[in-house]
Amino acid sequence: MPRSLLITRIGELVTNVPHDSGTPVFDAAGSGGFAAISDAALVIEGDRVAWTGPASQAPAADEIFDAALRAVLPGFVDSHAHLVFAGERSAEFEARMAGRPYQAGGIRSTVAATRAATTAELRAGLRRLAEEMLRQGTTTFECKSGYGLTVDDEARCCALAAEVTDEVTYLGAHVVPAEFANDREGYVDLVCGPMLDACAPHCRWADVFCEDGAFGADEARTVLTAALARGLFPRIHANQLGPGPGVRLGVELGAASADHCTFLSEADVAALASSGTVATLLPGAEFSTRQPYPDARRLLDAGATVALATDCNPGTSYTTSMAFCVALAVREMRMTTREAVWSATAGGARALRRTDVGYLAPGARADLVILDAPSHTYLAYRPGVPLVYAVYKSGQPV
Ligand code: NIG
Ligand code: FE
Repeated sequence: MPRSLLITRIGELVTNVPHDSGTPVFDAAGSGGFAAISDAALVIEGDRVAWTGPASQAPAADEIFDAALRAVLPGFVDSHAHLVFAGERSAEFEARMAGRPYQAGGIRSTVAATRAATTAELRAGLRRLAEEMLRQGTTTFECKSGYGLTVDDEARCCALAAEVTDEVTYLGAHVVPAEFANDREGYVDLVCGPMLDACAPHCRWADVFCEDGAFGADEARTVLTAALARGLFPRIHANQLGPGPGVRLGVELGAASADHCTFLSEADVAALASSGTVATLLPGAEFSTRQPYPDARRLLDAGATVALATDCNPGTSYTTSMAFCVALAVREMRMTTREAVWSATAGGARALRRTDVGYLAPGARADLVILDAPSHTYLAYRPGVPLVYAVYKSGQPV
């Protein structure tokens, strides 16, 4: 038997499981499945949750941790991040804040820095960001390639990402690199051929930046279809900079997630609502590009599943903080605190088609965050304040 740990005197235990062994504090209607138990306890055995419920009914365990009425949440699931890169673009950010608009072409400067970096440098930067995430309560994260854009550089980025997460995404179709400026077709062939062959062994997912200035719908379909034939499941960057075909293409291809969703038509909203494709919102990008925020309320009211993620990257959203994204979603995107926390945990798990994370109930992975606060609300109520008291990943304290 693995040793058991009882975490007791939990002020609010966010389970995301509406009818568990305790008494849900909130009903699930309108809050995307958010559920919580007050005066709760939780037992970890090995890497799994073994029991949740009212503290008064908790079973005995080998060790006890007194949470002193703090809140306990499932670890955040950050389903969209670009963490393998070199360099930074603070000057571009500064210029944007002075009024210059974001352009997808900025990606190329990170591509140049990434190609020039040694593998050890890239690994060090990646690990720094992965550790930064974990310290802030993110226990599962996705990581994309997309700043290499040669066969060797993309393969190197995917292999590095696979060192730190199981959720690696091939994003060879991030932007057409400068050397292919006059041969887009040649680049798409490369992405669907030798580059895919080199990257696929490291990846679970494939993504395309489907946007004016990046890839059109036909190119995106070609890439995602080729990737699917190699066993990589589709996700898509869609409708970030303007209206476009990306969201509906993602739904058509059965993508796990359509990400950004900033500029949506009624048809886009309806397509998401009637599909298994999660709408992943990335408010850090709107914050850093000074674009309008997506309207989460519209998606939720239509019945779409919404995830929140950081989009951590050096161009449009250089944050690893899911708490910051929760606060933005509540303040700027018309989400309730419950919806935002659900979307940052269970929603992210849906976007990654994971059934072991994003909730706390017997059998779930014992990934959890203890806040130095009495409830999940404090993530938005005290924005910018480091509220993480402790993090457990696979049952182990971090
Ligand atoms: O998700 N939209 C495409 N990719 C990133 C931006 C990358 C960059 O500017 O370096 C994003 O916002
Ligand atoms: Fe992105």
